[in-house]
Amino acid sequence: MTDNLATGLEPTIIVIFGITGDLSQRYLLPSLYHLIKDGLLNKQTVIIGVTRGNTTTEELFEKVELCVNEIDKVCDPDVLNTMHKRTSMIQMDLADPSAYDSLLKKLNAIEDEQGVCMNRLYYLSIPPKAYSPVVQLLGERGLNTSCQHGEAATRLLVEKPFGYDLTSAEELIKETAKVFKEEQIFRIDHYMAKETVQNILTFRFQNPIFEALWNAQHIASIEISAREQIGIVGRVEFYEPLGALRDLIQSHLLQILGIITMDMPEAMDSQHIHANKQLALEQVEPVPPDKVRLQTVRGQYRAYCQEVNNPTSTTETYAAVTVYVNNQRWQKVPITLLTGKALSERKSEVCINFRGETNATSNSLRFRIQPNEGIELDLVTKNPGFDYETQTTAMDFSYSNDFADHSHPDAYERVLVDAVRGDHTLFATSQEVLTSWRIIQPVLDAWANNADDLIIYESGSAGPQAAS
Ligand code: BG6
Repeated sequence: MTDNLATGLEPTIIVIFGITGDLSQRYLLPSLYHLIKDGLLNKQTVIIGVTRGNTTTEELFEKVELCVNEIDKVCDPDVLNTMHKRTSMIQMDLADPSAYDSLLKKLNAIEDEQGVCMNRLYYLSIPPKAYSPVVQLLGERGLNTSCQHGEAATRLLVEKPFGYDLTSAEELIKETAKVFKEEQIFRIDHYMAKETVQNILTFRFQNPIFEALWNAQHIASIEISAREQIGIVGRVEFYEPLGALRDLIQSHLLQILGIITMDMPEAMDSQHIHANKQLALEQVEPVPPDKVRLQTVRGQYRAYCQEVNNPTSTTETYAAVTVYVNNQRWQKVPITLLTGKALSERKSEVCINFRGETNATSNSLRFRIQPNEGIELDLVTKNPGFDYETQTTAMDFSYSNDFADHSHPDAYERVLVDAVRGDHTLFATSQEVLTSWRIIQPVLDAWANNADDLIIYESGSAGPQAAS
């Protein structure tokens, strides 16, 4: 992980493609607001919003709830004013090459005006099928190079999913590589930027007592889950072609699997962490086609078909996949990746179940990603009193109790800052993306062929396991 924020970030022009879209409005703009408020971005930072229509900055900011992340949810008028001043819009037909020439002129004019060579960060928050043409045109029209007067970094920040399956991901990565070098590309996986997920590495490698137990001899099973209460909240176009397996398991949950199962890196830097994570992912056995039924569960919440206006939709809103890691350390340890929407609770966590002397006594370790971020170790203890009665109690580290100021950067703030300062540690490499697709491809194929194992579950329930 690189330089300290206190040293200051370089001046950057952040160009947001799809600034009026859901992701930008829900996550990116509130994060930018907060970073500006905390003085964490360089004062010369400029934001350019790319739109297809002629939305003005005023119209944009009227619509967006910029201060949702603030404790009091109230916007500071001075910060708002700064954000307005630093933001401008450009209308572009993304398929028209001359629109990219106008964008380039605008970038050059900003640098002339500010009198500095600025980094350029293109943030693509557009539908996956639009990525390739935009990236190609950025390259063709010379927007992939450094600024006009000198040396500065030009970077591409992209939202998942990277591809739709293994073949399309290979294609996308090949096409992008023609225009941007790997070190210029930042593939967002915002789960990696969550505090507890980052803490997994520290916990594992700075507490030797656990590292010694981190293997099949002591661990019986692992569950990595992301349960959501919300449904698809109107994201029909995005979600209907994807489903839960592509949306969360291929990206967020497999990334977490990588850092849970990888060996200790030689150094805690981007290069060594990525090298070991890649190795760990390569050792995950793709689910064998004849075991798909046995190792997976998929479901759909009852109201889904109506919500997407497709009575025959077989898109899964719940998916659970059990995988095995083919190496000595993890031999035969089932690792279940599970996610679902419209469930009874919002809870993302990693649960490590240790082997017990008997079935009655065992310990589990939980990384609580959200809510109530923390780490918890379940231990069996004797109840006070004359009789020998036991119960399971938790040794609990929680951010809210253990850090006086437990406010920490939102995942998107972290993503933005790291992309601006060029730190790749928390982003997915092209190899990690491809390996993750390779792991789930047999499940995608089997599920595409036949949907008779799709279980319908009630919204607000525990999901298919409860329904069956
Ligand atoms: C996104 C998925 O990557 O993560 C969404 O596309 C999901 O479907 C979201 O709702 C969950 O993120 P978080 O941070 O709210 O757990």
